[in-house]
Amino acid sequence: MPQHEQHPTTAPLRRAVVTGSAGFIGSHLAHALVQAGTTVIGVDRRAPATDATAHANLACLRGLPGYHHITADLLNCAIDPLLIDADAVFHLAGIPGVRPSWGPQFGDYLASNVLATHRVLEACTRIGVPRLVVASSSSVYGPTGGGASVEADRPRPPSPYAVTKLAEEQLCLAYAEHPAGPSVVALRYFTVYGPRQRTDMFTHRALHAALTGEPLRLYGDGHQRRDFTYIDDVVAATIAAATVSTGQGAINVGGGSNASLLEVINIASRLTGRDIQLQQEHARSGDVLLTRADPSRAREVLGWQPRVDLHNGLRAHMQALTAQVPDYSRAA
Ligand code: NAD
Ligand code: UGA
Repeated sequence: MPQHEQHPTTAPLRRAVVTGSAGFIGSHLAHALVQAGTTVIGVDRRAPATDATAHANLACLRGLPGYHHITADLLNCAIDPLLIDADAVFHLAGIPGVRPSWGPQFGDYLASNVLATHRVLEACTRIGVPRLVVASSSSVYGPTGGGASVEADRPRPPSPYAVTKLAEEQLCLAYAEHPAGPSVVALRYFTVYGPRQRTDMFTHRALHAALTGEPLRLYGDGHQRRDFTYIDDVVAATIAAATVSTGQGAINVGGGSNASLLEVINIASRLTGRDIQLQQEHARSGDVLLTRADPSRAREVLGWQPRVDLHNGLRAHMQALTAQVPDYSRAA
């Protein structure tokens, strides 16, 4: 079924705000929106002039007349003026990453994922933004017992990060019940990969190890499984969430390729023709053995299903790495 075909949609977006636009997912989303004719205000606290990752992520948007970048921290900037006339706000800004959320960094997680979200919600309510799409996380489910996670399952967040994402999502849904609040779709993204993926994430690290010959640290035995979801699929679901006329609540965005870390390692080795040297370490707290999305609600509400399988997605991810980083192309 072609995406969105049988679903009532509102008019295409004229103007949208993307928070976290200098990040991995936010930069792809902003680019896709601009390509579709939407004027995008991108907000991020990382400045492209001084932050190499922000600079690289925003390169595809530089000079495009439909894109306007604001370097600002949502914890203290004036948000209202950014939202005027916005048809939708995509709230992707936040501190990601499961393992570093233990310990002293928790305050940053709480501040960016919960308090900054509260400021965005207050501003959306004052300005009358009709739709907020927020990046939630598969991590809110916690240990699953082997089956696919359905949005109605009781969340059991197993890490401080996951606790903040659940709080963020629920805060947004609470504002959706406010008479002046935006309608809210909270997308539970499942382990997103592809070009410009964060360098702390596993698929980037596996490809890096395969391309350079450097060892790969493997936390646990590698049998843990994820629904690896390709970035273009995630962007398509995210845009659909802003334009469908129904669908308030949480929606899983995942289900493309369920695979173990060892399978990712095998594919990365085959793609590069190089064996990956493993440095096995103990499993990390807060990591679950399995994530698996029940994709029914995404299909019914968004008309969305993932299209890119792990092999093709990892190949595109690897090609982007070798094209962007000269050291990789020398190693490949
Ligand atoms: P990312 O770190 O690449 O992007 C997040 C961006 O938010 C960064 O550029 C950061 O500077 C910005 N940011 C953080 N706090 C801010 C603040 N207070 N004000 C302004 N900007 C701020 O991460 P990502 O992987 O692109 O993730 C984007 C969102 O999706 C996050 O909310 C994350 O929790 C969620 N998510 C990601 C994944 C994944 O697999 N990457 C899966 C589930 C959910
Ligand atoms: C990812 C993102 O990092 C989170 O931001 C997001 O919220 C989450 O997906 C989600 O789906 O909601 P995670 O599944 O932990 O979290 O993805 P990775 O960081 O890529 O880790 C996947 C697995 O690889 C974990 O078991 C981890 O322990 C392992 N890993 C990671 C390693 O063995 N070695 C590494 O160097 C990195």
